[in-house]
Amino acid sequence: MALRIGVPAETAVGERRVALVPEVVRRLVQQGMEVWVAKGAGTGAYFPDAAYADVGARMVSQEEAWGADVVVHVQPPSEEEIALMRSGSVLIGFLSPLDQPEVADRLARQGVVALAMELVPRISRAQKMDALSAMAAVAGYKAVLIAANLLPKFFPLLTTAAGTVRPASVLVLGAGVAGLQAIATARRLGARVSAYDIRDVVKEEVQSLGATFVELPFEVPDAQDVSGYAKALAEEKQRQQAQLLVPHIGRADVVISTAQVPGRRAPVLITEEAVAAMQPGSVIIDLAAPNGGNCVLTQPGETVIHNGVQIVGPLNLPAEMPVHASQMYARTLLAMIQEFATPEGFKPNFEDEIFRGVCLTYNGEVVNERVRALLAA
Ligand code: NAI
Repeated sequence: MALRIGVPAETAVGERRVALVPEVVRRLVQQGMEVWVAKGAGTGAYFPDAAYADVGARMVSQEEAWGADVVVHVQPPSEEEIALMRSGSVLIGFLSPLDQPEVADRLARQGVVALAMELVPRISRAQKMDALSAMAAVAGYKAVLIAANLLPKFFPLLTTAAGTVRPASVLVLGAGVAGLQAIATARRLGARVSAYDIRDVVKEEVQSLGATFVELPFEVPDAQDVSGYAKALAEEKQRQQAQLLVPHIGRADVVISTAQVPGRRAPVLITEEAVAAMQPGSVIIDLAAPNGGNCVLTQPGETVIHNGVQIVGPLNLPAEMPVHASQMYARTLLAMIQEFATPEGFKPNFEDEIFRGVCLTYNGEVVNERVRALLAA
């Protein structure tokens, strides 16, 4: 029997993405795999059941989709969903390994081989599987559109019969994948953009997008770890950094903050003093909200207004652009499936750096060292 890939519908509140889109299902079916899609799984992302059936998917119940050989998903599964999985089956998706290690523990007990998309190593061979970067690009783009919508000003310079309007100033904090996309989007809308990151290796990328790189009189010798992620700062350094940013934040109409350190609370870059320095009507979009926020006043999932400054803490912007977010995510899953599965079956390969990186549970055990340590503690 051919390898059966299951696509259950997402059940997390507000999640509108779907793990596989019809275009990717077609590819898998052409390669000889069976794809079982739960009825209605694509509805939130505007992919009707008929579009899946047309490319050869079998439309099944939620239980049947979870019972497949390889299950692909967007959000970490609930306890009830894990209980529907067969021992020895494979789950590929965002599994929040460092924030919700208990999910890994439950998957291990169920005998599931779990591959966490957050753990894709940052090597060039794995770039096509880099789901985090794909979703960060969506979030960076959408954050700027939300800001432009909320700002009581134009983004571009306008010369009209009614006089000249000065362009908005946008400051991007954290120029990783989301930040660079935010810079590019704000520039396209005509704003004046500056950006800051603790890793000064991004300076050239920032400048090549037409933004100014903010340099702080502040030494961080080795800000970057081997995989390209920022390291956490000591508390005193962190306070110093936030203090130095106050005047830059005060001059901005819009701040898009994206600074993260994997597995840690997001660094505080925007203090109450910095918010007080902003003009009423200004906007902060805090993309680090799910990890506590870069702004001390951020309420995850809400918009708060402080002295007239609008502080938005979105939790899941990719879900608000479900068509392209699903398409991009599905392509990263396709790359992962093609790497480790054939129609004959799923082939774990611990000799492979990518497999070792993403494999979270195997043979009834949590195999990722960091997650094991979290569970032991
Ligand atoms: P991320 O989402 O973990 O962090 C976002 C940004 O916040 C990073 O640029 C980080 O340096 C910055 N940041 C953290 N702490 C900060 C602080 N205290 N102050 C200011 N900024 C702070 O990172 P992301 O966006 O996922 O990736 C970061 C970098 O990794 C990328 O810019 C890229 O160079 C590299 N990368 C490499 C890949 C590959 O080789 N396959 C794939 C994806 C990213």
